[in-house]
Amino acid sequence: MKLKNNTGQNLYKKAKKIIPGGTHLLSKRPELFLPNLWPSYYSKAKGCHIWDLDNNKFTDMSHMGVGTNSLGYSNKAIEKEVISAVKNGNMSTLNCPDEVKLAEKLIELHDWADMVRFARTGGEANAISIRIARASTGRDKIAICGYHGWHDWYLSANLNGNESLENHLIPGLNPLGVPKALRNTVFPFNYNDLNELKTIIKENPDLAAVKMEVVRSYEPKVGYLEEVRRLCSENNIVLIFDECTSGFRETFGGVHKKYNVFPDLCMFGKALGNGHAITAVIGKREIMECAQDTFISSTFWTERIGPTAGLATLKEMDEIKSWEIITETGKTIKDNWIKLATNANINIEITGMDALASFVIKSEEWLKYKTFITQSMLKKNFLAANVVYSSTKHSKKILEEYFESLEKVFNKIGDFERDIDSVDNYLKTDVCHSGFKRLN
Ligand SMILES: Cc1ncc(COP(=O)(O)O)c(C=O)c1O
Repeated sequence: MKLKNNTGQNLYKKAKKIIPGGTHLLSKRPELFLPNLWPSYYSKAKGCHIWDLDNNKFTDMSHMGVGTNSLGYSNKAIEKEVISAVKNGNMSTLNCPDEVKLAEKLIELHDWADMVRFARTGGEANAISIRIARASTGRDKIAICGYHGWHDWYLSANLNGNESLENHLIPGLNPLGVPKALRNTVFPFNYNDLNELKTIIKENPDLAAVKMEVVRSYEPKVGYLEEVRRLCSENNIVLIFDECTSGFRETFGGVHKKYNVFPDLCMFGKALGNGHAITAVIGKREIMECAQDTFISSTFWTERIGPTAGLATLKEMDEIKSWEIITETGKTIKDNWIKLATNANINIEITGMDALASFVIKSEEWLKYKTFITQSMLKKNFLAANVVYSSTKHSKKILEEYFESLEKVFNKIGDFERDIDSVDNYLKTDVCHSGFKRLN
């Protein structure tokens, strides 16, 4: 099929003139996928399909709303509850009871936790947890591993040069505008490197918290998480697991349940509301109570759609055991990537939790190949690059169609790698970006 998707690109050109950076989430920038050709905007999304502004229908074999929709877009059971909440008034002078029910449910799923605060974005939940940790310890410094949002406290890690956060999911983050007084308050450490964390703890007796993703790209080494837990307990440091992305993808709740290592505070986001804005900080009573001694408060943290969607999402997840389905789907995707790459004689590296699978082709031409993959798959009506956030709507049939199209693309890349052909003969646009940078 010949794609006509000018409407989305034209709108994006306009957006870049009136919205600095073009979009409100870096990961949704068209330049990260296929500069000048990515459909960019949607008119409708259902299951794992998306319709663009020119009514082209695509199968989403990429971010699924950047990890929000593990139960598929516009999930019927969840939409029913959300629509009812809207009809009954999403906002009022009084509070919505749903937030108490959702707090109860999250505590029931995590028996080490006693209290919950809600927010609407992952960055907010992260900032709340940092405030609580600092308030409860009376200390300022934080050690981090992973991406934890856009706020000053986090970006300040890059005040000592823009490379401190380079290994933490999003390269190129510039701390311009972050007060220089925050320099040396946040210390990044690499995952699975205990010595690095031990040094930070030794050099900073005033460390308030260690914040990390339990797992993201790689599995923890044997004993790693247990040792992080031990170090924190021994030094009275608050251990915070950021499960904004990992949560509900391998267990019914935090992935830390699988590893049997329990934090003092933990955040959930993304999948919790299946596309509706709801994030949570859960934690131990003695630490969470400190939220009362500082000031943490926001108008729209009281609206009703978020908690309603959260409750409906958890109900649906529980009924179908969604974390098992998406993990199985992710495994199938990883297995087939390996098979297709081996057959095409290309060197592939696969990382990520099964339900958040990603690959890179080990070649100097990687970014060109990634652009080529996206361009070729788009022609076959797939939104697909090198990352798949699995959803329960990725049926066997959809996966087969995806692998069938990807096989041809991988085989062609095999030709490029053996110099039988060149990727430059095929790229119809600029090479995709690899991280954060100014657009114009
Ligand atoms: C682990 C983690 N924490 C926090 C965030 C920030 O969440 P949000 O984009 O909702 O502010 C993200 C987003 O990708 C994340 O992956």
